Amino acid sequence: STLPTSKQFAQKDGFRFFMEKEIYEQSDVVVDCMLGRLSDDEILFDEIDKSLIKGINEIKICACGTSYHSGLTASYLFERLSKVKCNVEIASEFRYKEPLLTKDTLFIVISQSGETADTLEALKMAKAAGLKSLVICNVDNSSMTRTADATILTRAGIEKGVASTKAFTTQTVVLWMLALYFGKAKNVLGSDKLQSELHALREVPKSLIIDDSMHEKTKRLSKRYLHGHGFFFIGRDVFFPLALEGALKLKEISYLHAEGYPAGEMKHGPIALADPELFTIALMPQNLLYDKIKSNVEELSARDSTICSISPLDFDLSDDFIKINETDHYMLEFFEMLIALQLLSMEISVRLGNDVDMPRNLAKSVTVE
Ligand code: G6P
Repeated sequence: STLPTSKQFAQKDGFRFFMEKEIYEQSDVVVDCMLGRLSDDEILFDEIDKSLIKGINEIKICACGTSYHSGLTASYLFERLSKVKCNVEIASEFRYKEPLLTKDTLFIVISQSGETADTLEALKMAKAAGLKSLVICNVDNSSMTRTADATILTRAGIEKGVASTKAFTTQTVVLWMLALYFGKAKNVLGSDKLQSELHALREVPKSLIIDDSMHEKTKRLSKRYLHGHGFFFIGRDVFFPLALEGALKLKEISYLHAEGYPAGEMKHGPIALADPELFTIALMPQNLLYDKIKSNVEELSARDSTICSISPLDFDLSDDFIKINETDHYMLEFFEMLIALQLLSMEISVRLGNDVDMPRNLAKSVTVE
């Protein structure tokens, strides 16, 4: 038949918003994303030819918006797990800075749509400079998948909400798998380390299952976080890009002022803003630099900032607390916290009466400069 199946029409399926549906879908879409790519003892990417990574000593990532945040997360993972030098740039900056490119660099672009003008142009520049290129994309047969040497599809399904959720999650999962793939190919990952990473990857779908109490908690908290003079989302390591993403989600759909910041950098300026009307959303993972982030939050608390911590661990200086499940890997905490951040921004937006799926002034895909 020529009629599209119901699956081809994006439906809200009983959820209030597409964004809400897409937040709830994340556990399932990461399963699709990992299908055939995660075996018992290795990562497989049929889409990558060995010649793509041969002779590569460096990775350069370019993207915009939320996709830039998954790229920034990946830069920590690539250096940690594959021991490959990795840097990340916002595509609109990269385009005009007369970048120095060397041919031992793999150029990776990340894009939900595959159509963002600045990212596409960055990809074309890298190609023109003779670099090998890879796109991590959610839309097959898009401008970027047609341009890059290789494509890894994120398989998140159609994303309708302008504020990206499941696309980010699947991008991050792909990039984590890619870091392991590189690490294995370069022989820098011990087999115990690889096994424990693969084990953690298998737990990602579980970490994205939303329990009612967490959603209820964000609804209740949304009452208290409508006013004030701003939000700082803070974290360290991969939780810094996650903080950026949490702040971006809130800005996009609530129109409140929010900034993501590296927790250790607050003392170099932003802490001057601290008072009870400054809301600090503190990402406090148990498995990575807990004591460091804790002391950063203590400093903010001592200056009377209102603290909402997101953590598996109780923290007595928090004014509010969103509890995530205890896990044994920081990336699982990353995904648990991501859900909390997405729900919190959505519930604040709802309470403010905003259009969650189609926020003012924004477009799902920006195909002009
Ligand atoms: C727009 C969207 C964002 C998205 C960004 C990059 O600004 O509103 O949600 O992150 O474009 O889009 P891309 O499709 O390249 O990931």
